This record gives sequence, C-alpha cells and structure tokens, in this order.
Amino acid sequence: MNKKYELIYEGKAKKVFSHDDPDKVIIEFKDDATAFNALKKDKFEGKGKLNCLISARIFELLKNNNIPTHFIKLKNENTMISQKIKIIPLEIVLRNKAYGSLCKQTTIESGTDLTKPLIDIYLKNDELNDPLITKDRIELMNIISSKDLELVIDLTLKINGILKSFFRNIQIQLVDFKLEFGYDDKNKIVLGDEISPDNCRLWDLNQKNDTIVSLDKDRFRNDLGGLIEAYSEINRRINDFI
Ligand code: TMP
Ligand code: ASP
Repeated sequence: MNKKYELIYEGKAKKVFSHDDPDKVIIEFKDDATAFNALKKDKFEGKGKLNCLISARIFELLKNNNIPTHFIKLKNENTMISQKIKIIPLEIVLRNKAYGSLCKQTTIESGTDLTKPLIDIYLKNDELNDPLITKDRIELMNIISSKDLELVIDLTLKINGILKSFFRNIQIQLVDFKLEFGYDDKNKIVLGDEISPDNCRLWDLNQKNDTIVSLDKDRFRNDLGGLIEAYSEINRRINDFI
C-alpha cells in the first residue's frame, strides 16, 4: 500500500488504511487465515483477492436489495474503498442449519435443519475469546440500544433471505454466517466487515449423495485441504451467475 495512506487498524484477515476523504477507508484483504481465535494460523496465496472480489459482489447484491453496507467500490483485486464506520463490537451469527459451535455447545445434532433461523450474538473481544452474549448483557454493557439491536437483528434476517436464495441459485447451501455492523458518519447502522467463505459456511449442493463438501474456511479449520480451490469455485459460480 502507498506510504501516504496511514494504517489505522490491522485485524486477522484485513488491514484498514486512511483515505484522502476522511469519511472513507481503504480495506486490504490479507492472505492470512486464522481459526480458533488465532490458535491456528496459515497463509494462502490468493485468499485475500478472492475474499475481496466475493465480498464486493455480495455487497453489491445487498445494496441492490436496499441493505445499507459500508462498501463503495473496489480499488483493485484485493482492496476496496468503504465508508468509514464505527464498528459495533458484536459478531452476529445466523444459522440455518446446526453445525460448528452450536453442536459442540448443545445436544443438537450436527446437520439438523433449523425450523427458523437462529441468531447467536458474540461479544467481539479477542482477549475474552468472543463469548456468546445475551441481550440483557448487551444492555448492561451499554454496547447498543435495544432499538438498534432489534434493527441489527432485522437486517441480519433480511440479509439471510437474500443470500440464501442467491446461493441456492449457484448450487450452494448457506449453512450459517457471521456479520458485523457499524455506525456511519450520519449515525446510521450499516453492514460492515466482509461476506466471504471466511465467515460463511457454504456447502456444495452439486453432490449426488449426502456427503458434506465445504467450500469455505472449514477446509482450513478442519484440515480438509483445497482452500483456494474452494474459494475460487465460489468466485467462479458468482461471476458466472451475475
Ligand atoms: P461457529 O459455528 O464456529 O460458531 O461459526 C458460525 C459461523 O460464524 C461460521 O460461518 C463461521 C463464522 N465465524 C466467523 O466468521 N468468525 C468467528 O470468529 C467465528 C467463531 C465464526
Ligand atoms: N475468525 C476466528 C479466528 O481468527 C475464528 C474462525 O473464523 O473460526 O481465529
């Protein structure tokens, strides 16, 4: 990145730089992959570019469906220009199917279709290992008002409807995903972060039997191999469809 842009924040998978316009930021997607709160780390050449391109396409799709997002435009293949937002320190997970931590922490069997989407909210705090949090604790900690929390939940449910049918069109089952929201310069809630195979579980529906084929970061979390091939397949199907 050009020296004139100041690094404002570095996360596990992205770097955020200043922009000439103080209301905007430049987000660079890294090739690094982490899992289990960075206990497991690796680098996959080309992952940053794939996540940036996939996220850009999905943000455009959401924008066309009246979902406010921070995305403005792509700068290049692994960098996007976004609105500068103040991130709400909550990770909003929506599950359509039981998998992952839900099955480790409850007696719900892996692969169970949920009759209605389940929303699990986590506190975005690496030191505390992103714990599951309740609405009452959110209120107690003064993170956001209950009205804004309802808005975030409502947006998450709408996003699920849009993404589920979009992915079904490209033969992908949207199992679950994680979103982050923030406040823009007008104090309006907008979707932030990224939407990519790093923070969604995407299962291939092009399978003759019941085998689960993960086209997402579970390939890294569960040592399945073929991460770049899986992300490239998602990118290819999106581009062929749009
Ligand atoms: P989980 O089953 O591990 O709770 O994950 C649910 C979804 O949230 C899955 O699509 C992966 C995503 N996720 C993130 O994007 N970041 C995280 O830190 C965690 C734990 C999950
Ligand atoms: N994002 C988390 C980490 O960096 C975990 C995950 O995605 O599974 O460790």
